[in-house]
Amino acid sequence: MKSHPRILAAIATGLFVAHLPLSGADTPAASNASNKITYAADTKPIIDAACAKCHNAEKPKAGLRMDSLEGVLKGSKKRKMVDPGKSANSRLIKIVESIAASANDPAGKTTALHKKGPKPLSPEQITLLKSWIDQGAK
Ligand code: HEC
Repeated sequence: MKSHPRILAAIATGLFVAHLPLSGADTPAASNASNKITYAADTKPIIDAACAKCHNAEKPKAGLRMDSLEGVLKGSKKRKMVDPGKSANSRLIKIVESIAASANDPAGKTTALHKKGPKPLSPEQITLLKSWIDQGAK
C-alpha cells in the first residue's frame, strides 16, 4: 500500500492545532505566561468545591485539611498531597484523575480512597491543577 506522508503530516498538524484552543480555553491565567497560576486566584475555588467540604477545620477527614494552601501542601497524616514543581509525582493529581476515571466507569465503582463523595473535575480543571503544581504550587 502506498503511504501519503504529506497527507498524514497535515492530518497530524491539524489534530495538534485543533487541541491548542482547548488547553487554554478555560484557563485565562495559563494563557498569559507572565501571569503565574496561584492558589488564591486560580486553584482554591476548584479545590474548595471538590475536596474542602470534607477536608476542613471542622471535618479533617483522614487528618487532611484542604481548605487552605498550608493544608493542601501539608497533606494528610500519612502523606503529602503536592510535590511542588512535579505534578506527575503529586498525589492530588493521582486522586483527581482516579476520581475522574471512576466517574466514567459504567460499573460505578469508586476509588479506593472514597466510596462516595468527590465529584469529578473537568479535564481543564485537572490541567490547571497540574500547571499550578508545575509552577511551584504558590
Ligand atoms: C464527601 C466527602 C469527601 C470529599 C468531597 C473528599 N473526601 Fe477525601 N476523604 C473523605 C473521607 C471520609 C476519607 C476517609 C476515608 C476512610 O477513612 O474510609 C477521605 C480520605 C482521603 C484521603 C486519605 C488520606 C491518606 O493520606 O491516605 C485523601 C488523600 C483524600 N481523602 C483526598 C481527597 C481529595 C484530594 C479530595 C478532592 C478531590 C477529597 N479527598 C474529597 C471524604 C471526602
